[in-house]
Amino acid sequence: MDELVIHGGTPLMGEVTVSGSKNAVVAIIPAAVLVDGVCRIENVPNISDVAVITELLTRLGAVCTRLDDGSLEIDSRKVNKYNPPHELVKKMRASYYLIGALLGRFNNAQVCMPGGCNFGHRPIDLHIKGFEAVGATVDEVGEVITAYTDELKGGSIYLDFASVGATINIMLATVRANGVTTIENAAKEPHIVDVANFLNAMGANIKGAGTDTIKIIGVDRLGGGTYSIIPDQIEAGTFMIAAAATRGDVLVKNVIPRHMETLTAKLTEMGVTVEEFDDSIRVYAPTRPTRARVKTMPYPGFPTDLQALMVALMALAEGISSMTETVYDNRFQYVDELRRMGADINVDGRTAMIRGVPKLVGANVTSMDLRAGAAVLVAGLAAEGKTVINTMAHIDRGYDNIIEKMTALGASLERVSIAEKV
Ligand code: EPZ
Repeated sequence: MDELVIHGGTPLMGEVTVSGSKNAVVAIIPAAVLVDGVCRIENVPNISDVAVITELLTRLGAVCTRLDDGSLEIDSRKVNKYNPPHELVKKMRASYYLIGALLGRFNNAQVCMPGGCNFGHRPIDLHIKGFEAVGATVDEVGEVITAYTDELKGGSIYLDFASVGATINIMLATVRANGVTTIENAAKEPHIVDVANFLNAMGANIKGAGTDTIKIIGVDRLGGGTYSIIPDQIEAGTFMIAAAATRGDVLVKNVIPRHMETLTAKLTEMGVTVEEFDDSIRVYAPTRPTRARVKTMPYPGFPTDLQALMVALMALAEGISSMTETVYDNRFQYVDELRRMGADINVDGRTAMIRGVPKLVGANVTSMDLRAGAAVLVAGLAAEGKTVINTMAHIDRGYDNIIEKMTALGASLERVSIAEKV
């Protein structure tokens, strides 16, 4: 296991380039199972979730080749199994996209319940509702989900909650179904649109992705092709918030400014200067940010995945801020770690009240999950003194070379192998 040692207090200055979207690529790689040809996927981030989902496809019989330019070539024509190994599936929540993809390919899928970040109950009832609406029988025996049918037929699904995972999984299951499937109250996140654009580039016929009604007109076959992953909205937001928290001046490159609109608006409200260009955003914060009130919502609202990061910034802002988490029922577990660094935060149910302090102080802290780990990393960059984060494993799941990127911006941080410390 690797620790992260941070010597904080240095404003981040310079330019950073955002990598491809984790939450798009961990759906697009399973989607390649549906393609009768070779997919070349470009702008693939170098993160451990990509390694796991790629290994899952390989274990099913796909040939996956990482090219020198970082692209990933996948040939799924020899995939002949629909029961991926449980120990790999459990490593990440996005493994559940294999249910939709394998059901769409083989009319059969046997996948155990996935793992992933633990912040409250994360059922997949809406995914199952979608599969059943298009003719599949879904059994849950112990931890294993078995979905099977003689024929997938188009159907209509209303999602009780605009679930990202359910929206994508239903698209995967129905892209080659007989007939037209409609998803109402669909999720609209940028990565939903990216998955639909990937499938359409392979020959699918999906309309309305990015709106709350998606129509999937089933096609007989998807051929190979090339597709480039969109920039990672949450990585971009992480660097924007880190620039503000350290009072720095950073140009975040390879972004789609429209995807960052709610964060840009909130940072501007807090007195941070945010300049938008075609494919980059400059964040400049020479003075102490002021308080804000934020509520997380499905896209285009404030992303729940930036909630912990925004609270880390609020911990340093002047005045009393509030953060309300509406997507998950327990996503404030990281607050104790920020308190260890001197933050003044009170959590009551789904709302945290944050009384800003002039400075945070470095401490030994725990990374609770992927975005909580990023939040204590940003807090450590802003804090005075030394912060040690107990593990990089969570952060490595979703951030491509974050240590190199932050170091290039002037930060002082180092990955230390625990074995070396003995
Ligand atoms: C995706 O998770 C992301 N993960 C999450 O990002 C992100 O927080 C989330 O979307 C919301 O934006 C990936 O894309 C791999 P949901 P997902 O289905 O699909 C409830 C990160 O840090 N729900 O929109 O699991 C669920 O319990 C990760 O990159 C049901 O009740 O999110 C939750 O409260 C963390 N039944 C809410 O909906 C269902 O069948 C949102 O879940 C499905 C979901």
